[in-house]
Amino acid sequence: MYKRTLVTTALPYANGPVHIGHLAGVYVPADIYVRYLRLKGQEVIHVGGSDEHGVPVTIRARKEGITVQQVVDRYHNLIKDSFQRFGISFDIYSRTTSSIHHKFAADFFRKLYDDGKLIQLTSEQFYDEATHEFLTDRNIRGECPHCHAEAYGDQCEKCGHTLSPDELINPYNAVTGNPLTKRETTHWYLPLDQYQQWLEHWILDQHKEWRPNVYGQCKSWLDGGLKPRAVTRDLDWGIPVPVEGAEGKVLYVWFDAPIGYISNTKELCDANPDKYGPWEKWWKDPETRLIHFIGKDNIVFHCIVFPTMLKAEGSYILPDNVPSNEFLNLEGDKISTSRNWAVWLNEYLDDFPGKQDVLRYVLTANAPETKDNDFTWSDFQARNNNELVAIYGNFINRAMVLTHKYFNGQVPERGELTDYDKQTLEEFVDIKRRVEELLDNFRFRDAQREAMNLARTGNKYLADTEPWKLAKTDINRTATILNLALQIAANLSIVFEPFLPFSSASLRQMLNLGSAEWDNIGSINLLEPGHQLQPATLLFEKISDEAIQAQLDRLKRIKKENQQAAWKPQPVKADTNIDEFAKMDIRVGTVLECEKIKKSDKLLRFTIDDGMGGRTILSGIAQSYPEPDKLVGTQVLFIANFPPRKMMGQESQGMILSAVNSDGKLVLASVSQQVRNGAQIG
Ligand code: 2FM
Ligand code: ZN
Repeated sequence: MYKRTLVTTALPYANGPVHIGHLAGVYVPADIYVRYLRLKGQEVIHVGGSDEHGVPVTIRARKEGITVQQVVDRYHNLIKDSFQRFGISFDIYSRTTSSIHHKFAADFFRKLYDDGKLIQLTSEQFYDEATHEFLTDRNIRGECPHCHAEAYGDQCEKCGHTLSPDELINPYNAVTGNPLTKRETTHWYLPLDQYQQWLEHWILDQHKEWRPNVYGQCKSWLDGGLKPRAVTRDLDWGIPVPVEGAEGKVLYVWFDAPIGYISNTKELCDANPDKYGPWEKWWKDPETRLIHFIGKDNIVFHCIVFPTMLKAEGSYILPDNVPSNEFLNLEGDKISTSRNWAVWLNEYLDDFPGKQDVLRYVLTANAPETKDNDFTWSDFQARNNNELVAIYGNFINRAMVLTHKYFNGQVPERGELTDYDKQTLEEFVDIKRRVEELLDNFRFRDAQREAMNLARTGNKYLADTEPWKLAKTDINRTATILNLALQIAANLSIVFEPFLPFSSASLRQMLNLGSAEWDNIGSINLLEPGHQLQPATLLFEKISDEAIQAQLDRLKRIKKENQQAAWKPQPVKADTNIDEFAKMDIRVGTVLECEKIKKSDKLLRFTIDDGMGGRTILSGIAQSYPEPDKLVGTQVLFIANFPPRKMMGQESQGMILSAVNSDGKLVLASVSQQVRNGAQIG
């Protein structure tokens, strides 16, 4: 049995704001969990921070033309502030550029080094001769061998394959575009292969309870056979390798970042020794339970690499569970920082002030716990309007307003319960056990559904008993109904606290109750008769179609920008020659008439003065020219020697030439000055 719980959340790279994918995958479930344990009165801390080393932050600095320090300062502050506004309740949110962390991570490496736990290997790595630098996987780009899209040296974002830079076709420096050569370099490696057996036993035999996606990923890594992994890099941003002769080398970001969990705990404990005790209590006492909340791309580091580091060091506890989620997509497409395809937390907080709980609710209701899931703005609106407003909010509002109307805002006395009252209560006597069981097993989505079902029960109870009608004829029965409704409301304020902390706080304020206690769930005596309520306020408000449309318009704009940015000229066709070209009779003509062809969305009929008596040509460009008569008088280019052919029952005598514009529209080809109709192009 454990005494305390240490919860860590993946340290986000300080190279951009956090988005809904991070929130749904890691921070919202972790926050629900720690709030739940705190409500139960358990000893728990939530440790987080920004990951400020590694290539992602250096790439952002080059892109923005500022220093790496400026990048990490900017985004660390933005992320920290957004988390705070969103109610993610960290005990500490620090950063890996802190001096405490630098020293801690360097000492950790040094201990492994001194104990002979690392091996030194020389290998060939990609090198840019022009910039004199070795390239890390993330800084190498090239063609994906699987789907042939542009990919990073460690992963293809298009098809999702994990890659090594050696697999890329035509690798090049992602920043300079230079082609790469190979050079020898020496690094320190964590010999994962030596820990294979131990890991197999620890994970595959002893942690069968881990989520199937986590267990499955570990099993496939282990089945593939582990190899030594480099824990240092040739880079100038990071923690210098604390060994003589290692100039120009830093700790690999995936070596130092998880150590950030420990150094941040130390920072927290050193600053508040009375409250938290010594940091070792959280990391070295077997009675502490360590839980890592992460996204699925981090599984190998948290289940295999970091535990091996801890085991090699020898004095640390190991994670008890690593609840990792799958990915959240946005409107059907993969969330991507580089393509700006995301809902950024800081922007959401500005666009929807006071609606933190709505996003928390939707992300949990749709949490990608077992498979990838999709966030859509229409679902966001529907869940707010049809669930939070129409069920939970409506129930609370009715109970509050009626109590003010008929009982001066004082909790009325409860009389004898009817069978229907008892039946309603039966539905919630078990709620505490059910929600606990789900939360203890990291099933946040189902747990929140249980909480919502309690609100549903309350809402139905008032709708069925209609106390607003009874008040005129039977005030005692009205009193009983409202008393029970208010007891359910008080229960909701506790059950929902981990999920919707802002609305729970408002509700408790309305109910004039102090802080919540988990153990009170299930009681129908949380409010004494005569207890004075505060005025009613709305817990949730409808979200308008306009607010949703504004978000959809933003995404549409981004999609268009991305399409434009992704455009590349088609590769040049196979060689041809002047004789082949001479076979094409391309001429200039003036448009005499141009009109839509009935029953076709695409075709326009052109009547052309071709200098030879005129001709008709059909062309599929109607969508690019919605007002075809405006083309009259324009000179166009056409192929004059295509044999006539029928389209939609009409004859076309040639083909009009056009090019595709950046917005996908076709633009007619022409000459730069007026020429005689019938003139040949050559
Ligand atoms: O994937 C990421 O965003 C990493 N920065 C997560 C690091 S988690 C931990 F090891 F710090
Ligand atoms: Zn690919």
